[in-house]
This record gives sequence, structure tokens and C-alpha cells, in this order.
Amino acid sequence: TLTVIRDILGENVDDRVRDMADRAIKRTDEMINLLKDLSDLTYGDLRHAGNFKQIDLNGLLTEVVGDELISAQARQIEMDLTPSKTPAKMVCDPEAIKKVFRNLVTNAIRYTPAGGSIHVKLENLATEILLEVCDTGIGLEPEEIQQIFNEFYRSPTAKKLTSAGTGLGLAIVQRLVDEHHGFITVSSQVNQGSTFQVHFPKESVL
Ligand SMILES: Nc1ncnc2c1ncn2[C@@H]1O[C@H](COP(=O)(O)OP(=O)(O)O)[C@@H](O)[C@H]1O
Ligand SMILES: [Mg+2]
Repeated sequence: TLTVIRDILGENVDDRVRDMADRAIKRTDEMINLLKDLSDLTYGDLRHAGNFKQIDLNGLLTEVVGDELISAQARQIEMDLTPSKTPAKMVCDPEAIKKVFRNLVTNAIRYTPAGGSIHVKLENLATEILLEVCDTGIGLEPEEIQQIFNEFYRSPTAKKLTSAGTGLGLAIVQRLVDEHHGFITVSSQVNQGSTFQVHFPKESVL
């Protein structure tokens, strides 16, 4: 793709040309992210239909946190994972659950400044399986919390920080959690950090 062109251009090229290539790459990445998110939002349940099986969520979470560790480290953010003490088995669509985990973890990384930390935790409680993603990032105003699950909403601070987002991630998360009869709670303080909790009810209470 375009990064190849940039590599071919090599070192000895005009700064203006390099700058143009870099901008083109950035814009293309943004477009690709938007297309991926739009497809998750609109075709999500078609693709996931019939893929439900019983699985331990710890495995899925370990995989996602492992994948994202490099990008956290690249941003000088410490990230740790506390799995549940007993297996957190749930009948679910594993691909959808991984998408939920990945969106929340990448948000925590994206909206936490260098030097911050992220704690990811799974708990196997009596009536629910609880996922918690806690960061020391930019946080949210109470009025903003009400809007973050809306399609395309991005807070002014988030927009200033990065152009990489589409504002669709949490809308996708909300939808996939709904499909698993769960719900999400958020607590946050500006410049202190945010905690996102996903509550998945156990079958026995459904
Ligand atoms: N961990 C977080 N800390 C602070 N703000 C967050 C966090 N996660 C989400 N947000 C806010 O919610 C908005 C919507 O999130 P999301 O739907 O994932 O879109 P995106 O990450 O593409 O901007 C973000 O733009 C940001 O304003
Ligand atoms: Mg996001």
C-alpha cells in the first residue's frame, strides 16, 4: 500500500514529497478505519449470527490485551491484566466479545497520555461476568458521558488529541453488548481517568 511508496521514496527525497506521502497514508488509514467500523456497525449481527458457543472469556481477553500491549508500550503506558480466579465461561460470539474488549482497550490507550496506566480486569461474580477497563487518561465531563455511545460522537478533547478515531467504536460496543443481554457503566473524571465496566449476565439469570 502507500507505506510501500513512502519506503521506496527512501531517505533522499524532498521534504514536501515525504509530507504529502505521510498525509496520504494518514488519510487512507482514517478511511480504512471508518469502513471497518461502518461494516461492524451495520453488518455485525449478520456476520455473527449463529456463531454462539460456550467459552472462557479470560482467554479472549488475554489475547486482546496481548495484541495491544505493544501499542501501549509504544506510548509509554503501563497495562496489566487481572484474569478472574475461576473460569468465566459464557455462551457468546467470541469474535463479537473480542471486538468489545479491543475497542475498550484501544480507547483506554488512545485517551491516556504517556506515563499513564491501564488496568484490565475480569471477575466471575455470582450473577454476572464483569469486565473492567480502568485508565488514568483524559477523562470525560458528565455531559460527555451521555453522548459517547452515540454514532460519530467524539469529545472535543479527544478530537484535539488524535484524528484517528471514527466515533463509532462505542456504538459498536453497545450493540454487541446488547446482543449478549449485557449493559455498560462508565465512571470518569476529567484529567483523572475513566473506568468502563461491562456486565454480562449469567445464563441462570436470563
Ligand atoms: N477511555 C476513554 N477516556 C476518555 N474518553 C473516552 C474513552 N473512551 C471513549 N472516550 C470518548 O468517547 C468518544 C467515542 O469513543 P469511540 O466511539 O470509541 O470513538 P473514537 O475512539 O473513534 O473516537 C471518544 O471520541 C472520546 O471522546
Ligand atoms: Mg474508539
